[in-house]
Amino acid sequence: MSDATHVASGKVREIYALDDERLLLVASDRISTFDVVLPTDIPDKGRVLTGVSAFWFARTREIVPNHLLELRDDGRSMECRRLEMLPIECVVRGYITGSGWKDYQATGEVCGHRLPAGLVESEQLPEPIFTPATKAHTGHDENITREQAAELVGEERFAEAERISLALYRHGSEWAAARGIVLADTKFELGLDPAGRLVLGDEALTPDSSRFWPADSYAAGRGQPSFDKQFVRDYCETRGWDKTPPGPELPDDVVEGTRARYLEAFERLTDIAFDDYLADPEVVVR
Ligand SMILES: Nc1ncnc2c1ncn2[C@@H]1O[C@H](COP(=O)(O)OP(=O)(O)OP(=O)(O)O)[C@@H](O)[C@H]1O
Ligand SMILES: [Mg+2]
Repeated sequence: MSDATHVASGKVREIYALDDERLLLVASDRISTFDVVLPTDIPDKGRVLTGVSAFWFARTREIVPNHLLELRDDGRSMECRRLEMLPIECVVRGYITGSGWKDYQATGEVCGHRLPAGLVESEQLPEPIFTPATKAHTGHDENITREQAAELVGEERFAEAERISLALYRHGSEWAAARGIVLADTKFELGLDPAGRLVLGDEALTPDSSRFWPADSYAAGRGQPSFDKQFVRDYCETRGWDKTPPGPELPDDVVEGTRARYLEAFERLTDIAFDDYLADPEVVVR
């Protein structure tokens, strides 16, 4: 990587600077469960994340401009515009689950949205809601109210981030629904370009940033199995692991089963064969 300087490592991505305006985001095959990166990689997972993100970037430009400049031939590296990321995570929820379900049970609200009484776990909400969270650099992201988020980014920018995030969610959930997948919730990261315009960055509508549920087994009133990570989670549970680092090594059959599910998510969402993506990553942006 002679043309780039390594600037940071996320849980999943390595970040390099190409120059003052451009970054190279390289998605590794690392997998995290319960916020812990496991010692075993899932081959091609990074390619799935990069391919799915690029697929959406190419299809959502009418809603919001994005950071993608070029997809590299390895299928896992993306040249992108360097942005000044907003200090909030832009979460949209169409169904009540995860931390939203916990907050609702405790208070009847999620991030200041008062929700109807009597919702059951995993139930679809009357309308998708924007539920921002802080960007925690250590530990878990924390849900915040609209007022707190508006204070962090400014009223006007908050309103714009909400409008963009809801529009992206609607687009993604309709597309996924037509392919037998429920998009329960998802997280976007928006940043500012040098002109002060909001731009979609990071990854978008991937299995790592979203909860995808198989529509054919969906039923409200209980937790739903996740499309891709459930296999790994179930394995970790059988090991009696306490969910603190280090996580357990994964045996070959769990690695293969998880890889197959990531590839299936790629193919069902994009209608493109994963082998075609490997042969020429540009197929997802055409
Ligand atoms: N266009 C961009 N300009 C600047 N930063 C970006 C851009 N796109 C993404 N990022 C940042 O790059 C990082 C991506 O790395 P990765 O997805 O591995 O991190 P993460 O695991 O989500 O975050 P962390 O490890 O901090 O919890 C994120 O911190 C994200 O905010
Ligand atoms: Mg990330």
